[in-house]
Amino acid sequence: MGKIVLAAKVTHVPSLMLSEREGSPLKGMRDGAIKSLRELGRRAHERGVDTFVVFDTHWLSNFGYHINANARHKGSYTSHEAPHMIQNLGYDLPGDPILAEQIATEARKMSLNVLAHKVQTLGLEYGTIVPMHYMNADGRANVVSVASPLFTSVDESRTLGDAVRRAVEACDRKVALIASGSLSHRLWPNKNLGPEAWTTVASEFNRQVDLRVLELWQQRRYKEFVAMLPDYAVKCNGEGGMADTIMLFAALGWDAYAGEAEQLCDYFPSSGSGQVSVEFHVPA
Ligand SMILES: [Fe+2]
Repeated sequence: MGKIVLAAKVTHVPSLMLSEREGSPLKGMRDGAIKSLRELGRRAHERGVDTFVVFDTHWLSNFGYHINANARHKGSYTSHEAPHMIQNLGYDLPGDPILAEQIATEARKMSLNVLAHKVQTLGLEYGTIVPMHYMNADGRANVVSVASPLFTSVDESRTLGDAVRRAVEACDRKVALIASGSLSHRLWPNKNLGPEAWTTVASEFNRQVDLRVLELWQQRRYKEFVAMLPDYAVKCNGEGGMADTIMLFAALGWDAYAGEAEQLCDYFPSSGSGQVSVEFHVPA
C-alpha cells in the first residue's frame, strides 16, 4: 500500500531566485528559505519518495479541478505575471500519469469531477517549478501538479485532498505532498513596490493572523486551525483561495491530524505576502 511520507507547506516566491543572482539587491536575503526547500528535498529523497504531488496556487483554474498527468514535464518557463523575475527557467521532470489518473478516479467516486490531462503543451506553473528546482533538482522523483480552482468551495477542495490520500494508498507509491503557496497574500500596490516591499507585510492584520497560525501549528491546535481556515483564506487574501492548504490538510485527515509542525525557516515577507516553510510530520 502506498503512503504519504512527507507533507509540507512551502514558499515559492520568485525572490528566492532573485536572491541568488550576483549583484541583486536581494543577494542572500532568501538563503534561509532556500535552505528549507533543499532540506525538504533531502528528507524526501532519504525517505524514498517516488512522487511529489504539488498543490500549485499559481495554476489557477476558472473551470473546475485539473491535474497535470503528463509522463514528462519539460520546458523553459518565463512567468507571465512576473517576467522580470523568472525568465527562461528550464525544467525537465518525470511525471506520474498513473497516480494522476488515480487521483481523478478517486475524486469522481466522491462525485467531484476532476480532469487529469496528458497534453504535452500543458506546462508547469512556477508554484510547482520553483519548489521542484530546489527540492528535486536532479529530477529523481516524479511530479504531479494539481491546479487551484478559483470558483469552488472548501468542501470540494477537501474532497480533492481526500482523493489524493486514497490514490496514494491505491497506487503503492511513497509520496511527498507539497502545499505550494503563501500564508497571507495581500501584495503591495504598484506605487509601493520599492525595496521595502521585500521586507514588509502589506497588512498588519495579516501579519498578526499569520503569526497566530504558526503558533497554532506549533501547538498542534489543528482543530482550531481548520475551523478558521475558510475565514483565514478570505480575510487574509489567500493565494489561490488557500486551496493548497485545504487540500494538504484534507489529505492529512483534516481536524484529526495531530502531527508535529516543524518550521524550517523564519517567517518572512515578500511583496507584502507572508511566507514560510513548514513540515507537517506524518507517522514513519
Ligand atoms: Fe505565489
